[in-house]
Amino acid sequence: MANEKPSLNPCETNLLAWFRAKYSLDGHTSFENDRALWGYSSRKAGLCTIAKCHFEEESVRQDIDDILRSYQQENSFANILYGPSSTPINLKDILRKERHCMGPRFLPGMVLELRNLQLVGWVGERISDASVIREKGYPAALWQPKDSRKDATDIITELMSKGLAHTFGAFIEGELASSATLCISDGIAGIYEVVTKKEFRKRGGARAAVNAALGFAKDLNCDSSVLHSYSKVTGLYEKLGYQNIGNFTSMYYSRTRMESDRETGTVPA
Ligand SMILES: CC(C)(COP(=O)(O)OP(=O)(O)OC[C@H]1O[C@@H](n2cnc3c(N)ncnc32)[C@H](O)[C@@H]1OP(=O)(O)O)[C@@H](O)C(=O)NCCC(=O)NCCS
Repeated sequence: MANEKPSLNPCETNLLAWFRAKYSLDGHTSFENDRALWGYSSRKAGLCTIAKCHFEEESVRQDIDDILRSYQQENSFANILYGPSSTPINLKDILRKERHCMGPRFLPGMVLELRNLQLVGWVGERISDASVIREKGYPAALWQPKDSRKDATDIITELMSKGLAHTFGAFIEGELASSATLCISDGIAGIYEVVTKKEFRKRGGARAAVNAALGFAKDLNCDSSVLHSYSKVTGLYEKLGYQNIGNFTSMYYSRTRMESDRETGTVPA
């Protein structure tokens, strides 16, 4: 049934909420249709991402063409990120073979029930004053290319000041060693931007920052926490009790590809 929508898993719904929050900031342009959200940013640390959580089998090629054409018009590349419930057909092959997107790269979606969560060990703290992030340095900004760092710091402080995100930190030797950012939507606590500064790694900082976010979310009666991880980092989250509930697929529509598609005035037939 074309009109019957599959239910999205909580990782997918929270990812849409997180992108919606970022796209609401100045310098971003976004588009939304049923179960899809995509956009561009004029900001260096912005988003050029499509989050599409479900493709109808019969219209998937047309959907993809429409979205890629809009990127060409904006002169933008894109990261096409879609969740495990996306489509009953092999979207990865369509994107790779027919649209020449690069990838795939797989990002495990992970979930943790919060109801019976007992926080053990070091719990970091909430950073409610954005000036702390500016003064001490936002760990997730340092993970970005140099010319995007200021913008990444601006973006997180804007999200915090609008109440769209909460940031948690672990301090080591007086420095903001690790941080984790929380985006709550529909009782689901999404964890994003978990980074420890290089010099403070392997000292429990990331776990402490995530623990602080989880404690805060539990106090707000969130039912579960979700995140999408890198394959090589799942061990960190498994130690916190998260379980894999399926892979997100990330495919890259490169600037080179976008430019050649613009020259021919089309996306591949
Ligand atoms: C991944 C990262 C955040 C870990 O930070 P960290 O402060 O060194 O992690 P912690 O010291 O808090 O580790 C907590 C536990 O998770 C484990 N762990 C940490 N990173 C791990 C990894 N990559 N694989 C497996 N286990 C890991 C640790 O061994 C530790 O276990 P223990 O308590 O039994 O000793 C850090 O390496 C980093 O910033 N990487 C680059 C950014 C990144 O990949 N972020 C994750 C995005 S999803």
